Amino acid sequence: MKRPRVYITRMIPKEGIDLLEESCLVDINPEDRPLSREELIDAVRDRDGLVCLLTDRIDSQVMDAAPGIRGFANFAVGFDNIDLKEATKRGIPVSNTPDVLTSATAEMAWALLFAAARRVIESDRIMRSGAWKGWGPLQFIGGDVTGKTLGIVGAGRIGTAMAVKSKGFHMPVLYTNESPNPTLEEILGARKVTFEELLKESDFVSIHVPLLPSTHHLFDRSAFMRMKRTAYLINTSRGPVVHEAELVAALKEGLIAGAGLDVYEFEPKMAEGLASLDNVVCTAHTASATKSSRSGMSVKAARNLLAMLRGERAPDCINPEVYTK
Ligand code: GLV
Repeated sequence: MKRPRVYITRMIPKEGIDLLEESCLVDINPEDRPLSREELIDAVRDRDGLVCLLTDRIDSQVMDAAPGIRGFANFAVGFDNIDLKEATKRGIPVSNTPDVLTSATAEMAWALLFAAARRVIESDRIMRSGAWKGWGPLQFIGGDVTGKTLGIVGAGRIGTAMAVKSKGFHMPVLYTNESPNPTLEEILGARKVTFEELLKESDFVSIHVPLLPSTHHLFDRSAFMRMKRTAYLINTSRGPVVHEAELVAALKEGLIAGAGLDVYEFEPKMAEGLASLDNVVCTAHTASATKSSRSGMSVKAARNLLAMLRGERAPDCINPEVYTK
C-alpha cells in the first residue's frame, strides 16, 4: 500500500514524528519559523494529512489546495486557527491535543499570578541592573494571594486545574461556565456566578475560555472598570479575549493593579505601551512548554492523524459530525 504523505508545519518533539514515520512519508518545515501563507499553501498540496500549529491559519484557501487531505491534526488544544465549519462541511476531520497540557497551562497561570502579584520580574530586573541599594520596608510591596478570591472565567479542563491548585492558598473560588462544575463545587466549595459578580468580587481573574466570537474582547475597558482596582488579570487562553490596547490603558490608569499575560491579541506583537509597564508580566505563549506536555502533544497529534489516515475516528476529533455523514 502507498504510504500516506504527511506534512508537519514546524519541527515538533521527536516522539510524534517517529510514530508518523513508521507508516507515512513525512516532510517537515525545515525553518525554525512559521510558514508564510504561500509556503503553507504550497506545502499542503498533494498531502494526505497535516500536523499544523496555532500559528497556521487553516481556512478554505488551504483546504482548496489540498483536495485529497484526510485530516488536520492541530498541535494545540485551542483550535481557533482552523475554520472548523468549513472543514466539517468538506467532511475533513480535525483534532486537537487536550489533557496533556492541562497541568502545564494551569501551572503557568499560577506562575504569572505570583510573578505579577509579588512583582518578581521588577525585583529581578533591579537586582540584575546593580541598582538595588539593600532591603527597604517600602520596596516592592505587592498583592496578597492567600485568602484572596480567585475568579475563574471558563471552568473547563484548564480552568478547573488552575482552581484546584488554589486549595493550599485557602482562596474562595468563583467561576463562570456554561454548566455547573461539580468538581470545583465539591473540592473547593466554589460558586458559579455571573460574569458581573466574578468581576466585582475577584482579586485574581484567570481567563480559561476558548476564543470564540462570543469571547472576543470579553475583557475590554468596561470589564476592567467593573473589576477591583486591586485586582490582577491572568491570561493563558487566547490573546484576542482581551482588548489589549484597552488593557494597557487600564494598567496605566490603575483601573486594575496588574496583569500576567502569556498570550497576545496580535502575536507575536504586543500592544503599544505594554512593554514599558511595570505592572504587567509577559511570557511568550509558553504555557504548554514543558517536556512532558510538548512530547504528549506531539504523540497525540501523530495518533490523531494516523487514525484519520486509516479512516478511523480520531481520539481527539473536534468535529465528530464528519463521521456520521
Ligand atoms: C496553546 O496555546 C494551545 O492551545 O495548545
